[in-house]
Amino acid sequence: MAQSPAPITWNSRLTFILAATGSAVGLGNIWKFPYITGENGGGAFVLVYLACILLIGIPVMIAEIMAGRAGRTDPAHSMAALARESKATPAWGLIGGLGMLAGLMIMMFYSVVAGWALDYVWQSITGGYGDSAESIEAHFNTLLSSDSQQLLWHTLFAAITAAVVAAGVTRGIGRAVDILMPTLLLFMVMLVVYAFVKGDFAAGMHFMFDADFSKLSGEAILVAMGHAFFTLSLGMGAIMAYGAYFPGHASIGKTVLAIAAMDTVIALMAGAAMFPLVFANDLTPGQGPGLMFVTLPIAFSQIEGGAFFGSIFFILVSIAALSSSISLIEPGVAWMEKRGLKRPIATLMLAGVAWVGGYFSIHYGAVFNALDYITANIMLPLGGLFIALFVGWVMPAQRTLYESGMAGGPAYRSWRFVLRYIAPIGILVVFINSFL
Ligand code: PFF
Ligand code: NA
Repeated sequence: MAQSPAPITWNSRLTFILAATGSAVGLGNIWKFPYITGENGGGAFVLVYLACILLIGIPVMIAEIMAGRAGRTDPAHSMAALARESKATPAWGLIGGLGMLAGLMIMMFYSVVAGWALDYVWQSITGGYGDSAESIEAHFNTLLSSDSQQLLWHTLFAAITAAVVAAGVTRGIGRAVDILMPTLLLFMVMLVVYAFVKGDFAAGMHFMFDADFSKLSGEAILVAMGHAFFTLSLGMGAIMAYGAYFPGHASIGKTVLAIAAMDTVIALMAGAAMFPLVFANDLTPGQGPGLMFVTLPIAFSQIEGGAFFGSIFFILVSIAALSSSISLIEPGVAWMEKRGLKRPIATLMLAGVAWVGGYFSIHYGAVFNALDYITANIMLPLGGLFIALFVGWVMPAQRTLYESGMAGGPAYRSWRFVLRYIAPIGILVVFINSFL
């Protein structure tokens, strides 16, 4: 976001919604959700994920917005200031620091995957990935084995992200989301319809929604919870940083429900588009990160005008990734700016570090996997746990009541209860359960 909090005007709620939705909706929905659902056996995993969105994600998102709006600066300084105000240790500001690090680490693989999407824009136009399931699979493997190709696209994506953040026009990108989201939704509907007609839709639905909890490992539950944080951009201060734009009179609760609903619908539609194609084409649901890049091109290669639709679709995915990647480095840049660095220099430094990390993710699959695993499944839930404890237990109740704009009714009370007890205990139980 811009360097200083926006003045509270009639459109600041809209600005916030666009920026936060832009941050939330991204590769997590379209690329990651379907592939981890495939890897973790479907149904039961999806239900645990939805429960985590509801019981942990939504209350924590409300808490992040509150802290951001109350603190009015980057997450680290906001939390330290609010802690002091509540007579607690300013060491709480370290949670903001952990978040900046997590954002940078996510960027190190996110930018690589966004690079794959850029490659697919080009491949869609030129028909480069072929038109059979086999040739499309082979194309993806070729891309993965070409480090130079991946590096090229990763560099381009990281450079575009850096250019936008350096210029401080992130609010302008928020506006782009205005057009992006409805168009993306339209494409998802189109793909689901295609999967309904041409895919094995029944098999896809059974896979996504038939729940067999006996097969669900503690590890799978951890991944589901981690993804709830990842997909809503929680636990690292991205939404907190945007919270400064939130006007005092608007209800945080309704806004958060709208953002979470949008994010969830897009993820579920992505799954509903891909799994029927998986089963109709004898692909494996658990094939991993290539799932989107193998299933959707099958649809694009078979429909009339598929080259056009395919390239537009991957452009949309790339823009969705951009509005998310901006929020990955913005908190760090805002923090460095507050410490006296010029915005372009701060951006260049952070994007440079992320670029180097991306270089290693491309060359070593283990680095890619470790960055993804550690951030989503450990750092974000841990950050979310501390944010829940901070807003639920450290910030005075009157302060959160005032900030919530919820007038102290049952909505406010149930939110505070879930934030203080259910969310932290839930996170801890999932952590402990996965270690056993
Ligand atoms: N929420 C984004 C997605 O689903 O693609 C990823 C993300 C963005 C995670 C920003 C965390 C974040 F701070
Ligand atoms: Na998301």
